[in-house]
Amino acid sequence: MPLTLVDTLRTMREEALAEASAAPDLDALEASRVKFLGRKGALTGVLRGLKDLEPAERSRVGAEANALKDALEAALAARREALETAGASAGAGDLDVTLPGRRPWVGHYHVLNQVRDELLDVFHGLGFGEGDGPEIEDDRHNFEALNLPPGHPAREAHDTYYLENGLVLRTHTSPGWVRAMENGKPPLRLVFPGRVYRAESIDATHMDQFHQMDGLYVAERVSLADLRSTLREAARRIFGPKTKVRFVPLYFPFTEPSAQMDVSCHLCSGSGRVADGARCAVCKGTGWLEILGSGMVHPAVFRAVGYDPEKVSGYAFGMGLERIAILRYGLDDIRYFLENDLRFLRQF
Ligand code: DAH
Repeated sequence: MPLTLVDTLRTMREEALAEASAAPDLDALEASRVKFLGRKGALTGVLRGLKDLEPAERSRVGAEANALKDALEAALAARREALETAGASAGAGDLDVTLPGRRPWVGHYHVLNQVRDELLDVFHGLGFGEGDGPEIEDDRHNFEALNLPPGHPAREAHDTYYLENGLVLRTHTSPGWVRAMENGKPPLRLVFPGRVYRAESIDATHMDQFHQMDGLYVAERVSLADLRSTLREAARRIFGPKTKVRFVPLYFPFTEPSAQMDVSCHLCSGSGRVADGARCAVCKGTGWLEILGSGMVHPAVFRAVGYDPEKVSGYAFGMGLERIAILRYGLDDIRYFLENDLRFLRQF
């Protein structure tokens, strides 16, 4: 009966579309296709039988059957595409969207660069710009203009790498001030971060390359009080607001007077003892940490760059970046900084 055939098609439509859109995988999808549209498929059978029907029935049933064929083909294609995309991104198709994502590893600044940038921030905030100079220096900038003429005994302390052409690997960042003064006029207020070299035998506390940051302030009537207040403020910003400082007389050829600045130990607050009464490991029980060398720029240095020491005055300072990182983080070996061991580097 024609009515029955149309009914059959409606039931088939429900079943076929439901199966096609819910097929769990590509094999099941293909099985559904064959079941309805294959050579012996249910829908194919109906289509094939159309020719035997009365013209009026043929058009009713034919319209219904062809509409189902179109709908089913569309549903099969949509399901195929969905299964294929899921398969491509999740292998077996068992994608768990509730799992946390995997972050790609993007690296970060080396701990020494972090310390350098932090110091630059502090000194920028105190009005200092940034200057630089070459790591391969000439004798004049590394020594002579800094009041270290050839044969000066203080040169011995610098364990210098000499190159065959008479140049040296700079032993400190102080040559930066000489270059800044040669190229500019006072007032100058600059810091000079960079890498320096010393012909040291390497152990836990010595490297033959490390980093320093010198600072220079040259103007009229700069005093030791300016040096002290600026460096004390810098120390508080670096080591914390309760930090105390003390200046201990010391000799440097390029400054006069010269002083080492110590800061109170941030771990034991300057007491030299930690909670259980044990000796503080960071300051070795002294309560103080030696942080930098400093002083008033020596008149001979001004003369070497063509400044009149009667008219200008200035202070300078220099510190080791490794040393600051070691004290800040309680490290026990300077070699870590260059070893590129990710277990070390990732801690900062
Ligand atoms: N350049 C010295 C060194 O490497 C440290 C230093 C820097 C001392 C600047 C200073 C100074 O008096 O003003 O040992």
